[in-house]
Amino acid sequence: MKFSLSNTVPHEAQTPCLVIGVAEDAPLEGAAADVDRASDGLLGKMLDSGDIDPNRYNTTLLHGVPGVAAERVLVVGCGMPEKFDRVRFDRACLAAGAFLREHAVTEAHICLHDMPVEDLDEPWKVRHAAVAFDRANYLYTTTKALKDDSPTPLREAVVRGGEELQAALDQAAGIAAGYRRARELGNLPANICNPAYLAQQACAIADQHDHVEVEILKKGEMAEMGMDALLGVAQGSDNDPRLIILRHRGAAEDERPYILVGKGITFDTGGISLKPGPNMDQMKFDMCGAASVIGAFEACAILGLPINVIAVVAAAENMPDGKAYRPGDVLTSMSGKTIEILNTDAEGRLVLCDALTYCERFEPAAIVDVATLTGACVVALGHHASGLMSPHDDLVDELLAAGLFSVDRAWRLPLWEDYRSQLKTPFADMKNVGGMPAGSITAGCFLESFAKKMRWAHLDIAGSAWKWGKAEGATGRPVGLLTQFLIDRAG
Ligand code: BES
Ligand code: MN
Ligand code: ZN
Repeated sequence: MKFSLSNTVPHEAQTPCLVIGVAEDAPLEGAAADVDRASDGLLGKMLDSGDIDPNRYNTTLLHGVPGVAAERVLVVGCGMPEKFDRVRFDRACLAAGAFLREHAVTEAHICLHDMPVEDLDEPWKVRHAAVAFDRANYLYTTTKALKDDSPTPLREAVVRGGEELQAALDQAAGIAAGYRRARELGNLPANICNPAYLAQQACAIADQHDHVEVEILKKGEMAEMGMDALLGVAQGSDNDPRLIILRHRGAAEDERPYILVGKGITFDTGGISLKPGPNMDQMKFDMCGAASVIGAFEACAILGLPINVIAVVAAAENMPDGKAYRPGDVLTSMSGKTIEILNTDAEGRLVLCDALTYCERFEPAAIVDVATLTGACVVALGHHASGLMSPHDDLVDELLAAGLFSVDRAWRLPLWEDYRSQLKTPFADMKNVGGMPAGSITAGCFLESFAKKMRWAHLDIAGSAWKWGKAEGATGRPVGLLTQFLIDRAG
C-alpha cells in the first residue's frame, strides 16, 4: 500500500472516502467536528437519531455529505472516550480498514487518529494507523484466482498530518512490509513453502539490500558441526533442512548483534508420534516463528536501523518415514548435551537448540527465539498474547514494552528451576518433553539450557501467529513487537 501525508482540512479533502472517528456521549473531535460544521450539523443529528452508532467498531458509510468534498464519509464508532486506549484504537483502525477492503474502496483519506488515544502522540497514532490499515488490507491470493466478489484492498492511504510526521509514516511502511512478508510465508502451503523455499526467499531479501548478507547451510555442513538434534527432526523428510542466516550490517563490525531465531518447521505431522488427522493442515503454520523473524529482519533492513541484526531460521519438515527419528532415540545436540526423544512431536525445541548453540559464535547483545512451540501456550494465554520466557528481567521488560507500544502484546511465564526436574531422564542429559503440567514452561526450560551463555528470551507464538479455523490465516505476529524491540535498541 502507498502511504502519504496531507494537511488538507478534512471537509475539503478530494478523496473517494474520508475516514473519521466518533465517540459515545462526547463532543465531536477533530475531523468529525469539522465535517459536522461543514454539513450543517449532519453528524450530530445522525448521532442523536441513532442512525450513526458510536459504539466501538461500528461503521456507517455516508454518501454525498453536503459541504464535504469527499465522495463518501466512513464514520467509525470508538466507544467510550475514556476507554479508547491503544488496543481499541488498533481494533478501530482494523475494522475501518476491513470495511474499506470489503467495499472496494481503493483510496482513502484517514483521520481516525484525530481521536485522543491515552496520552499517545501524533507520531505514534499516525504510525499505528498506517500499519493497521495496511494489515487490514492484506489479501492472500497467491494460490487462488481472484473472483468478481473478491475483496479489493485499499491501494493508497492519505493520512492526515504534516511533513513532520514523514519519519513516522516511513517507519510504518517498513513495519507493514515486514508483516506482509510474514503473513505471506505463513499462508503458503507446505508443498510450496519448504525449507529450500524459505532459503530462496532469504536470498531474495539479501539481493534487495546492499547491507544484507545471507548464508545458507545444508545438511552436510550441519552434520560437520554436529547439529544432530536438528538433523534428527529432518531425517524423516525428503525435503532437506536448511539453516538460514541473514545479516544486516547497520553498525560497526565490532558492535554486538541482536539475533532473532525462528522455528521454521514447514510442516509438522508430529513424526512417528503422529498428530491426529483433524486440523493437521494448520501445521503448515508451524514456520510462523521463522516467518516473523524474516519479516522483522526485512523491516529492519528497509528502515536501515543503525544496529547489527542477524536472523537465523532453523528450517525442516517433521515427517513419519522409514528413516524418521523415533521415541526412545537419543540424539547428541551441537552443544554436546544428549537428548532422549520421548515424543517426536516436540520437534521445535530440537531444531531451535542447535540453532541457539550455533549463535554463540556471534556473541549477541541479546538473542530472542520465536516459535509456534506448544499447544499448552494456547491453553494458557489464548490467541491474544504471545508467551514470553527469559531469566533476564531487563530483557523481559524491553520486550514487554515493545509489545505494548506496537499493540502486539506478550505475557511473561516463569522459568523457575522448580520446573527443571520435569526434563530429567535416566537415559540422557534431558528428555524432550516435560509432561502435562506447564508444557510451555518446560519447553522454555529446555531451550534455556542451550542459551546459558547468552542474554536470551523465548517467545511462544502458538496462539498468536495465525487465526485458527477458516478465517484469514497468518497474522504476521510478532513482527510488530520484534521490530519495535530493534527500533528501541537502535535508540
Ligand atoms: N507445533 C506444535 C505446537 C502447536 C500445536 C502449535 C498446536 C499450535 C497449535 C509443536 O511442535 C508440538 O507439537 N508440540 C507438542 C509438544 C508436546 C508433544 C510436548 C504439543 O504442544 O502438543
Ligand atoms: Mn510438533
Ligand atoms: Zn511443531
